[in-house]
Amino acid sequence: MHDAASAAPWSSKEPWATTDKARLYRDLAQELEALLTGETDPTANAANAAAAIYHSLPVLNWAGFYFARGEELVLGPFQGKPACVRIPIGRGVCGTAARDRRSVLVPDVEAFPGHIACDSASRSELVVPLLDGAHLLGVLDMDSPELNRFDSADQAGCEALAAIVVRHLR
Ligand code: SME
Repeated sequence: MHDAASAAPWSSKEPWATTDKARLYRDLAQELEALLTGETDPTANAANAAAAIYHSLPVLNWAGFYFARGEELVLGPFQGKPACVRIPIGRGVCGTAARDRRSVLVPDVEAFPGHIACDSASRSELVVPLLDGAHLLGVLDMDSPELNRFDSADQAGCEALAAIVVRHLR
């Protein structure tokens, strides 16, 4: 069993302003791989991935998964306040990322037409599709209470995390 060591990114008390994003995502990717390796249950792995991401990436109010079920996304394991359960593919930020099979970075959720407000505290959002080749498994969704919280380094880092999760959902 993986030992959630105190050096793991989710144990860091480093101030966000001085965080080296490249290092943070590299460390988190390593820890996530170790955390999920050896377990084959997809719910357990998605739940631990949501917790690791939520507690490692600063200034988030929600992090978790929606899984593709027919023409909808259905809520999966997450950390944060209770959220909308079903999102039609093509609706909101999550449904757009799922439909287009690409990451969607939203600096200001109020400026995104059709944004679905699950937690009124959310100000910016990053959604990354979970792709197994061409097959859409769902999306990884992260919300922040801060405007402009996510940049291209976050997008690249979260796409790498999503790839790790996909390998451990099979
Ligand atoms: N804001 C998302 C809905 C999901 S919650 O943020 C958890 C959207 O517009 O798709």
